[in-house]
Formats: sequence, C-alpha cells, structure tokens
Amino acid sequence: MNSNPHSKTVLITGGAGFIGSNFVLDWIAQTGGSVVNLDKLTYAGNLGNLESLKGDTRHVFIQGDIGDGELVRRLLAEHRPGAIVNFAAESHVDRSIHGPADFVQTNVMGTFSLLDEACRYWQGLNPSERERFRFLHVSTDEVYGSLGPNDPAFSETTAYAPNSPYAASKAASDHLVRAYHHTYGLPVITTNCSNNYGPYQFPEKLIPLVILNALDGKPLPIYGDGLNVRDWLYVRDHCEAIRLVLAKGRPGETYNIGGRSQRANIDVVRSICHLLNELRPRLGGDHASLIGFVKDRPGHDRRYAIDCGKIERDLGWKVRTDFDTGLRETVAWYLANPDWVENVRSGNYQRWVDLNYNLRGRQ
Ligand code: NAD
Ligand code: DAU
Repeated sequence: MNSNPHSKTVLITGGAGFIGSNFVLDWIAQTGGSVVNLDKLTYAGNLGNLESLKGDTRHVFIQGDIGDGELVRRLLAEHRPGAIVNFAAESHVDRSIHGPADFVQTNVMGTFSLLDEACRYWQGLNPSERERFRFLHVSTDEVYGSLGPNDPAFSETTAYAPNSPYAASKAASDHLVRAYHHTYGLPVITTNCSNNYGPYQFPEKLIPLVILNALDGKPLPIYGDGLNVRDWLYVRDHCEAIRLVLAKGRPGETYNIGGRSQRANIDVVRSICHLLNELRPRLGGDHASLIGFVKDRPGHDRRYAIDCGKIERDLGWKVRTDFDTGLRETVAWYLANPDWVENVRSGNYQRWVDLNYNLRGRQ
C-alpha cells in the first residue's frame, strides 16, 4: 500500500458505523479506490450513512461478522484487498459497563479471528503484494488509562492501563495485533485516537446526545461534576490521518492521533447550547437551562490528552479543523438531517436511554 495506495481495493470492517462510514466516503472521494465493507450492522451500524454511494460499484457492502473466519477468508480470496482497516468494534463505554460480553466477543475474539485470516491471506501473496499489504487497526487513547490535570499527554510509549471493559477489550486487541507482527511478520499498524465527533455519530455519545436532547427540550445529562476532560478530534481529520498512515506509516509502528483540543465536558455542553441558541433558539430561553448533573459513570476516567507529535513529525499530518469550527459544522449537520436522526432513534434506542439514564437521577 505504501507506494500507491490509490490503486488498491481496501477491506474496511465496521464501515457502516460512525468513523468507518466517514472513512468509506472519504476514501472513495479522495482516492477513487474501491472498498469492500464488512459490517455486522449492530445497533450502531447504519447503511443510511452510505446512502450517497447507492449504485456506486466502488462500494461493495457485506453484512457479516469479523469473527466469521470462513466469510473473511472468502472475501479476501475474492476481492484481494491491498489493505485491511479494522474499525469494527463495540465502542460505547457505558454499554461495556452494562454488558461487557459483546465487547470481549467482537473486540478481542473478532479481532483475533480477523488477524488470523489476514495473516493466512498475506502469507499467500506474491512478494511485491506482501511488501505493500497493510493491516491497520483503529484503536483508542482509552487504552492508556486516565491522566491527572498536570500529567503529560499520552505518547506511543505510555504504558497501557485500561480502566473500563471497553478499554480493556481494545487493549487486548492491540496486543494481539502487535503479536501478529512480532511473531509472524504481518505488516500491521495501530492508531490510537482521541474522542471523535462529527456527522453520522450515533446519539449515545456525548455530543450528538446533547444536541438532540436539547432540540427536544430534554435534560442534558452531565456525569459527575462535568470536569472530566477529553481531547476532541473532528472525524474527517481522523480519516485523513488514517489514509496517511496507510500510505506512509511503518509496519509494526503505532501512531497516536489527537485533536489538540482538550475540553471539560461541561464546557463542551455549554458550547453546544450556545450554538443552538444562535442556530435554533428555544422558546423557553437558553438551552443551557436544560443542563443537569447526574450520577457519575463508574470508574470514569478523569482526563485524556494525546501527544500527536510522532504522526506530525514522521508523516506530516496535522489537525485541520479547530474545535469551534468542527462543533459548529456538527451542530449544523444534525439540524440539516432530521430524517437520519429520526431513523437512528427508532427501534431499541429508547430502551438504551431508559437503561442508562433513568436510574441515574439528578445529583
Ligand atoms: P461505532 O460503534 O459507531 O461503529 C462500529 C461499527 O462496527 C458498527 O457499524 C457496527 O455494526 C460494526 N460492528 C460491531 N461489531 C461487529 C462485528 N463483530 N463484525 C463486523 N462489524 C461489527 O464505532 P465508531 O465510533 O465508529 O468507532 C470505530 C472504531 O474506532 C472502533 O474500533 C473504536 O474503538 C475506535 N475509536 C473510536 C473513537 C470515537 O471517538 N468514536 C475514538 C478512537 C477510536
Ligand atoms: O477517547 C476515545 C473514546 O472516546 C473512544 O474510544 C470511544 O469509542 C468513544 O465512545 C469515546 O469514549 P468516551 O467515553 O470518552 O465518549 P462519550 O461520548 O461516551 O463520553 C464523553 C464524555 O462525556 C465522558 O467523560 C463521559 C461524559 N458523558 C457522556 C454521556 C454519554 C456525560 O457526561 N453524559 C453523557 O450522557
């Protein structure tokens, strides 16, 4: 993939989810290349995100599980991709607290099975194809644990210390990816990224949840004291980073990707309210009057921050979208796409909201 990534087909897993679908759209638009998209279509997968690719032969969608070795073997043999980008995962920390088993199944066992099939496929390629092939594993900053207010940001050498079942399952998958390089020589690269936001994010995550609750005049639930800090990255900047890592990243390396935008949760929520006051004023007054503090997330990591110096220095990547611009675009996107919103909030979404929020109460 490193010499000419654009001529190749890539196998994307989880390409109907938030970041995966943004990446599929970005890849086809920026490179003109083809995508084989393997997604199980869990509650988080949504083919509506890929509506604009309807009829485009460069996008082949297959509903299936990354843990289904036979299916993956068949797809690899049939489409002969030059790279695999693994986005597929259970991704929501609160869900991992209510039910960790799915996280172990997909994030650990699923990634293991995918790696094993990828390795077998890679071993059967001719020498120049083998040289160019990449297995890119998309991971998270949460594997590094939690920072104090004055700690330096996470770097690629920070020790792993995952705290939630989600983070532990991603850490386990990262270790398997590393081991497949060290033991079998599979040309893997792992990226560890901070909190993404932008179009098509499922409204279980903070930013879309707050936008949509505010539009409905519902409470805006802030866990704990609202001073937990996250490092926010606009999803399209993340997609660009992954494209660059595929083209120029070194096998066996890991790259941290972050937004250089640390914000306390309460400030993020206030910024959303401020934007909505301007773009969709509320009859009852300031949207911020809906803010309420609720029972904290168990084991809630206090602060994440990414040192993205390595990808900047080695690959020339840098953040393009500052947080204020990205947040404005995101709020505008949710306002402009009521049909998408309506669609994702049908079905079992309400059951999740009841499970996660009804017992929290106000603090
Ligand atoms: P998401 O929950 O929106 O999407 C996950 C996708 O994976 C869904 O389309 C789902 O149907 C699919 N999927 C789940 N289990 C599967 C399986 N067994 N087989 C095939 N497909 C399956 O997640 P996201 O926010 O887009 O995150 C994508 C990846 O990026 C994840 O690996 C996540 O850990 C990582 N990540 C996310 C963030 C973030 O802020 N969202 C930040 C850093 C890293
Ligand atoms: O850091 C990267 C991670 O970011 C990814 O690996 C995960 O897949 C992704 O879900 C995200 O995890 P977080 O737990 O940081 O994201 P979430 O949007 O769930 O929460 C962001 C912060 O907001 C966190 O401190 C918890 C808080 N929060 C969240 C929700 C849903 C609230 O205060 N209220 C809420 O209702």
